[in-house]
Amino acid sequence: MTNKSSLVISNQTDCHEHLEKVVKKHLVTPYLKPYHHFSEQLFEKLDKLQQKLMLSIILDSGCGTGESTINLAQLYSDHLIIGIDQSAHRLKKTIGAQSYLHKDNYIIARGDVIDLWRMINKAKWNIDKHYLLYPNPWPKKDQLIRRWHGHPVFPQMINFCKKIELRTNWDIYAREFKLATSLITERKMTINNIKQAELTTPFEKKYFASKHKLFRAIIN
Ligand SMILES: C[S@@+](CC[C@H](N)C(=O)[O-])C[C@H]1O[C@@H](n2cnc3c(N)ncnc32)[C@H](O)[C@@H]1O
Repeated sequence: MTNKSSLVISNQTDCHEHLEKVVKKHLVTPYLKPYHHFSEQLFEKLDKLQQKLMLSIILDSGCGTGESTINLAQLYSDHLIIGIDQSAHRLKKTIGAQSYLHKDNYIIARGDVIDLWRMINKAKWNIDKHYLLYPNPWPKKDQLIRRWHGHPVFPQMINFCKKIELRTNWDIYAREFKLATSLITERKMTINNIKQAELTTPFEKKYFASKHKLFRAIIN
């Protein structure tokens, strides 16, 4: 990955005008898309393991290469860290041609979080913290539904974990995420700047090297 990155360009200058309407619709319309078979297989494997280990879980959704998952595993040695990404290309860096790696106190696996979040919510896993590190911004106005907070799975994702941390280099994404969260839970989300690169992910390193402002939306 190069160390140069362009700022997010959007035809939005503020939070999306339809965000509130979209989230409220998703709140009353459960998202029922059938799970992929590979998601059911992955969930079954993870579910058995988490029942056996009985550790608090930290979820790293959209973990990219999985470097953040490994960093988190070192920081939280008493937790099980689960990093999930759909991209075999990105995961290759840490898990090679495999689709699943369990090492020490972490798992890095290829999977679709949109399916897994719903299964985790239903199974009531003991998730201590959920990291969403630099999700794709989908910055065009008509891409709202592709942002995590505009997606129909959002209410279920907010539901399964009390502590959430989203990081982004697009302030509007952080502000929309906070606004959407406030429509679902009374837990207070705050937004602050990441002033020094914490160097937990390849995207964070790249944005920091390109002198972007980095934002963290967090419920602790
Ligand atoms: C901008 S990258 C950030 C990767 C990493 N967190 C980082 O900061 O370096 C966003 C990642 O989200 C992953 N992603 C997007 N939708 C996903 C989904 N439904 N399930 C799993 N991963 C997904 C992409 O494959 C991509 O690796």
